[in-house]
Amino acid sequence: MRLTWLGHSAVHLAAAGKSILIDPFFTGNPKHPQGWENGLERLDAIVVTHGHEDHLGDTVRLAKKYGATLVAQWEICMTCAAEGVEKLQPMNTGGCILHEGVRFCMVPALHSSAVMRDGKAQTMGDPAGFVITLDGIAVYHAGDTALFSDMALIQRLYRPRVGFLPVGDRFTMGPEHAAIACNEFLELELVVPIHWGTFDLLHGDPQDFAKRVTRGRVHVATPGEPFGL
Ligand code: NI
Ligand code: MN
Repeated sequence: MRLTWLGHSAVHLAAAGKSILIDPFFTGNPKHPQGWENGLERLDAIVVTHGHEDHLGDTVRLAKKYGATLVAQWEICMTCAAEGVEKLQPMNTGGCILHEGVRFCMVPALHSSAVMRDGKAQTMGDPAGFVITLDGIAVYHAGDTALFSDMALIQRLYRPRVGFLPVGDRFTMGPEHAAIACNEFLELELVVPIHWGTFDLLHGDPQDFAKRVTRGRVHVATPGEPFGL
């Protein structure tokens, strides 16, 4: 599996001929690797963890451009359908689907979810994380979340080997709490800190996170540079 962090919470997964984006916040993301999209030839699915603009991002535009299927909370799917996205796989917390050979499981996250429309914040169901199993490897993208001990249940149920965890603090876990997630509740072989460094408000330091993690290998990724398990 080829994994690429695209700055903030945006992640691309490629394996077995499939191409999947999670939380594709490209436009307005100062850490997005400019021009990355020019090399993207196919896109099968877009997974959105929650409605905040730094996660929903370019979803509608990319889904239309590539004919990709949107996998997200029911409320997010209906909002994007009204804006012209045609292929939808609405889900809700606790559910799994098998779509074209890829398994998507929607898991809890402790956060909020809303989209701005007409200058107003509309609530957008519950926030989520996802475990995506592609080519036999399960990847946990935690979305935006606080630390919660039921991450152990996510590990038990879905057996992720790779994790993308927020460490930026203020809106999500910071380094200390994210390290507790790794050391006490998850059993990841590879963990990648996300949701840090994008804006000054996110003060959590990924190197501080890396120092605290005792279980699993931490990879502080560079946006746009692919890596493997
Ligand atoms: Ni958020
Ligand atoms: Mn966020």
